Amino acid sequence: MISLISADEIKEGTSKGIELNNFYMFAVKKDAEVFLYWNRCPHLGTPLEWEEDRFLDPEGALIICSTHGALFEIEGGRCLAGPCKGKHLQAIPFVLDNGMVMIEESTLRVSPPLQ
Ligand code: FES
Repeated sequence: MISLISADEIKEGTSKGIELNNFYMFAVKKDAEVFLYWNRCPHLGTPLEWEEDRFLDPEGALIICSTHGALFEIEGGRCLAGPCKGKHLQAIPFVLDNGMVMIEESTLRVSPPLQ
């Protein structure tokens, strides 16, 4: 298993970009729960964030793509509005171990790095 980030580093209601070996991911914490996705919009495959670590709309209620404004549920990553409506962000399976977000090494072989 690979340790990505301490869950405590993600403040409630915020998001955090994570890069590992040129693989780009992001995590969101909502209601004390962590959600982890590839940083790739299902519309055109671009990174989502507006600025470093900013993946959420102003209310912190939804994930928003900075390219064309698609809105995604934090839980599940379903696109609610925008050009990829009905598609999903790709979630990354993980476990929490002693407060650390951990992924399988094989996860980094499944999805190619974002250009
Ligand atoms: S690339 Fe994300 S909405 Fe178009």
